Amino acid sequence: MIDTLKQHLAEVEAFSSTSKDEIEAFRIKYLGKKGLLNSFFAEFKNVPNGQKKEFGQAINQLKTSANEKVNTLKQAVENQSETQGKYGDLTRPGEPIEIGARHPISIVKNRIINIFSRIGFNVSEGPEIEDDWHNFTALNLPEYHPARDMQDTFFIQTDPDILLRTHTSSVQVRYMENNRPPIRTISPGRVYRNEAISARSHCFFHQVEGLYVDKDVSFADLKQTLQYFTSEMFGKSKIRLRPSYFPFTEPSAEVDVYWGLETETDYKMTKGTGWLEIMGCGMVDPNVLQNCGIDPEVYSGFAFGMGIDRIALLLHQIPDIRLLSENDIRFLDQFKSSL
Ligand code: PHE
Repeated sequence: MIDTLKQHLAEVEAFSSTSKDEIEAFRIKYLGKKGLLNSFFAEFKNVPNGQKKEFGQAINQLKTSANEKVNTLKQAVENQSETQGKYGDLTRPGEPIEIGARHPISIVKNRIINIFSRIGFNVSEGPEIEDDWHNFTALNLPEYHPARDMQDTFFIQTDPDILLRTHTSSVQVRYMENNRPPIRTISPGRVYRNEAISARSHCFFHQVEGLYVDKDVSFADLKQTLQYFTSEMFGKSKIRLRPSYFPFTEPSAEVDVYWGLETETDYKMTKGTGWLEIMGCGMVDPNVLQNCGIDPEVYSGFAFGMGIDRIALLLHQIPDIRLLSENDIRFLDQFKSSL
């Protein structure tokens, strides 16, 4: 008999549950009207006198134990449902949220926009599928102009009038057609050229082109603006302008920034010269202003255009331009800490 009591005591102490039903069943089993404890009490009168003391203590201990157990388990279940009811378990550690990363092209593009917006340039955009007028003709590239071959063009089906824009100069034309000077705008966007894909070039890439049209805009303004840009963008203000040719600007120049020759990478990047070519620029050809309805006798302007992809490769030491469009998460993840 005493052994049975001890067994029950062990059972009571070992019992644990978070289910209300199980706890209630446990309570009924021990403490209910027809429960075990009452039956033990009922048997008490049959216990020989000599054992009464030990037996009585054991029953009382079992009763206290069972009562305590039921109370603590019930309390625990109640506490849990209280916090879970509205907010879940507030003490649990938070779930980690994966944050995304900006694409290196966007990082560079946003930096360029930011730099030019500080000196009053706004942002303009236009369609990627363009017509001949906005991509070529208005930009002083009439039909059969040999310079059209400078940019290998993708045409849409067989219509020679509809094409994928080869530069965002087309946006500048649209902007001039719809806005009067003073104009200060930059046009970021994706452009397409039918070129062989390699580590250095792709058949689509991204540009930011800039345009400033007002009275008395001079080449000196252009140079000053470019110098401001390179020092903000690269921390380098030594630039040189090499004479070049673009049909839509006259005179035209290629802009090099002095990168330095301190490290082996500098050496490789600049092919041992220290100079890095970053963009084309020039004074807007009077024909272009005329084509867009702006009087070249009154107004003059400068324009420039650069590729974002190359700059992104340069700033982030990316060895292959194709990585920029493959969407490999292992590559993209690495830009989490960037702007
Ligand atoms: N549109 C030229 C290109 O895509 C860049 C450029 C823009 C050059 C404006 C001069 C002036 O190569």
